[in-house]
Amino acid sequence: MIDWKTDSWRKFPIKQVPEYSNISNVALVEKELSIRPPLVFAEEARRLRKRMADVAEGKAFLLQGGDCAESFAEHNANNIRDSFRVLLQMAVVLTFGSALPVIKIGRLAGQYSKPRSSPFEVINDVSLPSYRGDMVNDMLFDEEARKPDPERLLKVYDKSAATLNLLRAFAGGGMADLTKLHEWNLEFVRGTKAAEKYKELAAKITSSLEFMKACGMTPENTPQLRETEFYTSHEGLLLNYEEALTRKDTITEEKGWFATSAHMLWIGDRTRDIDEAHVEYMRGIANPIGLKCGPSTNPDDLLRLIERLNPLNQSGRLTLIARMGSSEIQKKLKPLITAVKKSGLIVGWCCDPMHGNTVKASSGFKTRKMDDIMTEVKGFFEVHKEMDTIPGGVHFEMTGQNVTECVGGVYEVNESNLADRYHTHCDPRLNATQSLELAFLLADLLSENRKGLNKEIAAVS
Ligand code: TRP
Ligand code: MN
Repeated sequence: MIDWKTDSWRKFPIKQVPEYSNISNVALVEKELSIRPPLVFAEEARRLRKRMADVAEGKAFLLQGGDCAESFAEHNANNIRDSFRVLLQMAVVLTFGSALPVIKIGRLAGQYSKPRSSPFEVINDVSLPSYRGDMVNDMLFDEEARKPDPERLLKVYDKSAATLNLLRAFAGGGMADLTKLHEWNLEFVRGTKAAEKYKELAAKITSSLEFMKACGMTPENTPQLRETEFYTSHEGLLLNYEEALTRKDTITEEKGWFATSAHMLWIGDRTRDIDEAHVEYMRGIANPIGLKCGPSTNPDDLLRLIERLNPLNQSGRLTLIARMGSSEIQKKLKPLITAVKKSGLIVGWCCDPMHGNTVKASSGFKTRKMDDIMTEVKGFFEVHKEMDTIPGGVHFEMTGQNVTECVGGVYEVNESNLADRYHTHCDPRLNATQSLELAFLLADLLSENRKGLNKEIAAVS
């Protein structure tokens, strides 16, 4: 990598970072982080890059999801378990619908910082620094609480290590066992239409598993039935944290630098300027990375960015995460796909139907409508079909908690009951029922794709 160092980003203009009052404390924290063990291992990140290459080539489907922002207050075993369960449920529905491996990546174990549209928040004429996630300051509207505190970076490391430890235990220790798929259904989802559909699907899978057992394949002797690969990701926003955890891979031949705070990092829509710090840092790490593309993304700029971030044109290195909004998706995504297709650059395409669809309800709550989310997902598939390219995956904000943050869905959250259980530290998330409904919609879209493909194959042979 030409002229790149783990700290070369420091010479570039940077957006969305906190202003700490005591810089020497920041340096001490960075030093402390830099001697802590990595959270993930280079080989794992490299394996995910291979999986993402499968996503880009249509041989696997990506499911990326989790909190908008994790928080210290809600960091506990039950929340981690429930998010994991919902992701497993969605994954099994998608695996069944697509007949493809589903690559599971959590927005978990590190997603503690948030870019904000304004550096200040004003309430009743009082102006304080905006809340930028627990990694930076406290959500409470109070002068002391809103002061950025570098010690929080160490706390994020500790919390992320604990989350990741539990996720690894779940993924490999029996929770993901396919014979237990009934247990992933959360209490409050029971009785809904989505839960009924899930029960039907679970019965089909169970009978397939019984058939396989009769043939001699059981979870005891076939780890693929018992375990799953589960990866972590977050927006790489606070680059001093990322730099301190960037480590050289000394074990394998491809001796690169890896971000070890997570398997995958993404660049946000607000920090994707080609001449700025975030792009500079990300171009040098060897992890698979994501790039959020909002409606303001210009096709030519995008091509320059792709070349900068993936100069070797490696499959699996870069995934574009489109977040256009339900009314813009058709119009805005097509020119980007056209340009990329023409250029011969290799990327994976993923749909984030959340961030382009945030609206303010009359009650003042930020919310998202299930209808808009579904429309954007459908639009994403339609555009790819038209362009003959690959709709590789989805990126959601969801939680295993029974929240009322997004409106709509069969469980019918409406604007008047948003206040019942509105707990998010940032954007409105899908609850477990809404997540499952979306998974079924996706499964339908994916199985239609598969039928289309089978017809094509039949026509050729
Ligand atoms: N190992 C396979 C996979 O991860 C099958 C599997 C096991 C699975 N447990 C799962 C799939 C849970 C989805 C959900 O894809
Ligand atoms: Mn968000």
